[in-house]
Amino acid sequence: MSNEKSGLEKFKLNYTSRVQKKIEEVFNFYGKNSCDLIEPMKYSSLNGGKYIRSLLVYATGATLGINEEFLDQPAIAIELTHAYTLIHDDLPCMDDDEIRRGAPSCHIAFSESSAILAGDALQSLAFQILSQKKYSQISSETQLNWVNFFSDTIGLCGVAGGQFLDLSINNRNVELKELEKIYMLKTGKLIAPCIMLPYMLDNRYPDKTIEILELGLTLGLCFQIKDDLLGYTSSSERLGKTKNKDELRNQPNYVNILGVDEANKKLQEQKERYYTKLKNLGFNNTILAEISEYIFDREF
Ligand code: IPE
Ligand code: IPE
Ligand code: MG
Ligand code: MG
Repeated sequence: MSNEKSGLEKFKLNYTSRVQKKIEEVFNFYGKNSCDLIEPMKYSSLNGGKYIRSLLVYATGATLGINEEFLDQPAIAIELTHAYTLIHDDLPCMDDDEIRRGAPSCHIAFSESSAILAGDALQSLAFQILSQKKYSQISSETQLNWVNFFSDTIGLCGVAGGQFLDLSINNRNVELKELEKIYMLKTGKLIAPCIMLPYMLDNRYPDKTIEILELGLTLGLCFQIKDDLLGYTSSSERLGKTKNKDELRNQPNYVNILGVDEANKKLQEQKERYYTKLKNLGFNNTILAEISEYIFDREF
């Protein structure tokens, strides 16, 4: 068998190492004269995630023919925000998870107060990066659009609202429709900007805004159903987080409502919807399609 890496593997290696380097640079620059709060911030954004969201940013940009340098700010901002949501998600008052990425969760490695504040500071750092004036080719209007879209998508009507609703269904029965809505919010709303922020740099923006948003939300829903399935079919070691966590805390998910086979069927249905949308946008046979496939097929 050849040891040659596929184009997709090269893409993943190249851009995961690129975004990590960029995040380190951000901490070196903005962390000058800061306090130790920077330690849990670094711990949670540089300790071995898959960087799937930034891969989506670079893959969308490559698909649209956008200079990769212009994609760094959205990629960093989304990864910092993702790290913040995971820190808060693991807190005792939320999912109470002590393991994340095969290591102690942020509040275990540091303290609860440090974890809350690290999350807060990561969120504001994300907006600082997104609004930083760096390239004359990116207009202030585009950056304002980034900030406007992103603040909506991670806030009350997005990730934060979704997390609130997710906690509200703990210990009770829920209809699949309600769960689907929660997944679109808590997970889909952070996947959507991975496609939308690069699209805002495209000269066809804003014609396809609705289609792009729906594409991202559908991918987010698939991502979360897959996460539910992996929680049952994979191991804690492989996942780097507690297997069957939703069972342990009586949290409804696709698998405990439908069973593994039906949940898999739902994932297939949503995948088909996603690929139809991708095709309608003319994005089939692109690196974005390849990264999407990797998201569907991942084992952890
Ligand atoms: C975990 O996301 C949170 C969910 C939305 C299910 P990832 O699986 O992308 O987490 P990391 O960054 O790779 O650890
Ligand atoms: C993750 O939800 C979504 C966010 C953190 C916004 P989960 O709670 O289902 O994800 P894991 O399993 O802890 O990664
Ligand atoms: Mg959660
Ligand atoms: Mg959780």
